[in-house]
Amino acid sequence: MSSDTGQGRGVRLWAGAYSITALIVFVVLVVLGLIMRLSQSGVVAVPADYFYAIMTLHGLGMAGVLYTAGYAAIWFLASKYVQPNMALMRFNFVLILLGVVGLIAATLIGRFGPGWYMLYPLPFLPTWPTWSIGLAVISVMLLGVAWLLGQLDVLRVIVGRYGLTGMLGWQYLGKGELREDLPPVVLIIAVSMIAGAVTTIVGAVMLMLYLAQWLAPELQFDALLMKNAVFLFGHTLVNITMYCGVAVVYELLPTFSGRPWKTNRIVALSWNAVLLLVLVAFFHHLYMDFAQPVAFQVFGQLASFFSAVPATVVTIFGVMAQVYRSGIRWSFVPLSMILGLTGWVIGGLAAVVDSTIAVNIFFHNTMWVPAHFHTYFLVGFVFILFGFIYQLVGSKSELMGKLSLGTMLAGGYGFLLMFYLGGLESVPRRFADYSSIGISSVMEFGQMSALVAALCVAVFIIGLLLYYTAVFRSLGAWLARIRMDN
Ligand code: HEM
Repeated sequence: MSSDTGQGRGVRLWAGAYSITALIVFVVLVVLGLIMRLSQSGVVAVPADYFYAIMTLHGLGMAGVLYTAGYAAIWFLASKYVQPNMALMRFNFVLILLGVVGLIAATLIGRFGPGWYMLYPLPFLPTWPTWSIGLAVISVMLLGVAWLLGQLDVLRVIVGRYGLTGMLGWQYLGKGELREDLPPVVLIIAVSMIAGAVTTIVGAVMLMLYLAQWLAPELQFDALLMKNAVFLFGHTLVNITMYCGVAVVYELLPTFSGRPWKTNRIVALSWNAVLLLVLVAFFHHLYMDFAQPVAFQVFGQLASFFSAVPATVVTIFGVMAQVYRSGIRWSFVPLSMILGLTGWVIGGLAAVVDSTIAVNIFFHNTMWVPAHFHTYFLVGFVFILFGFIYQLVGSKSELMGKLSLGTMLAGGYGFLLMFYLGGLESVPRRFADYSSIGISSVMEFGQMSALVAALCVAVFIIGLLLYYTAVFRSLGAWLARIRMDN
């Protein structure tokens, strides 16, 4: 079973190329995650400089590959309504590959390891060779350029067909007659790509300043300003990745429920609110920066609370309306969509907990932080993405698909539970080796939970391999179908 919603041969081939490449990179990054957990458990000794290089590659790689795959998915779905530029998609593929190769060299060879958001002025410490700093910055710039071009291109074609206010669904807010339905997938793509483009430009300016300091080390920039910029960019990128996943669900679930999922006034209002709130919620990353104006801190908390509501509530009600008494057959794709949305909601709630100032005082920089974002990514976005790829390429064995989903679910939540419990027990994040922690109860819990987590990751990887077997075995048939269609 696979989708053919009218997209042409090239669109299907490129969506496939991005998806399969993402799957290959993803499993390698999961193995890096496993190595980190084994190091933290004390079972495997990873030198600290390698640990931080691996951590940086894993974090940047995961955030980058999942956004790119999410973009490819919405690009494919958008192609049903508009025609984005195919040559740009090919060009971006090369830019992104170059960026990835550069990052691999900077981290694994140069041992560049300031963490995935390269917080200023950490990258400029004399801990790693100067070339690795420049290479890492240029590589992230290449990725940023590809993402920005992609975002602008999709916006260009959507504005061309639906108009500036039309793509945001403003026609649903007035009393006038509707001339054309706005598919919700287009609305969510528009919101995500506007937020993405604005904040990627901020990220680009920040990276240019990094580049300037690399070329002229005597330069100094305001660390607080840089931190605001990096989180505006990074936080938004992560959020719009999730929204790309949600857009996929809005488009694909109706093909299984048999019910249309339409934009209405509430859907339009909610996603417009998301556009405003997602741009300011990042302030919750700066609660510990006492030089940040207090008003921003209060604003950050309020925006974090409110940004969680509209998209989530409107999507959950939408899903209920789709599924309730629809007689839906629970095959791999709808199952992965529902499980993915569940992971998104659970991770989102854990994020709201952490973005509450009174709680953040305790959870800041503990394992609670990776716990929440791993939840909405690993058992949230990744499940939705896997559903999309399964639908795109098809699978020879539905049974193997479902088995893979169950195994990834068990391994994934077991792995996440250890992060959450670590957070509750005050285990710090970003420690290569817990034996240096002075409080023995925290050290012991950290090591024990890391070991259990590593075992769960092994289970997750088994599920992953089952999924890959199901999908990769049908690649030949998928290519043959595309050839026959033309
Ligand atoms: C089974 C899969 C995965 C495993 C085993 C894993 C493991 C880990 C570990 C052990 C850390 C370091 C935690 C710490 O001590 O601070 C980490 C950090 C991180 N992971 Fe994962 N992870 C997985 C999946 C993902 C996914 C799907 C994403 C998607 C975005 C992701 C993104 C990150 C990021 C951004 C960091 C933070 C890096 C930093 O602090 O600079 N990981 N991961």
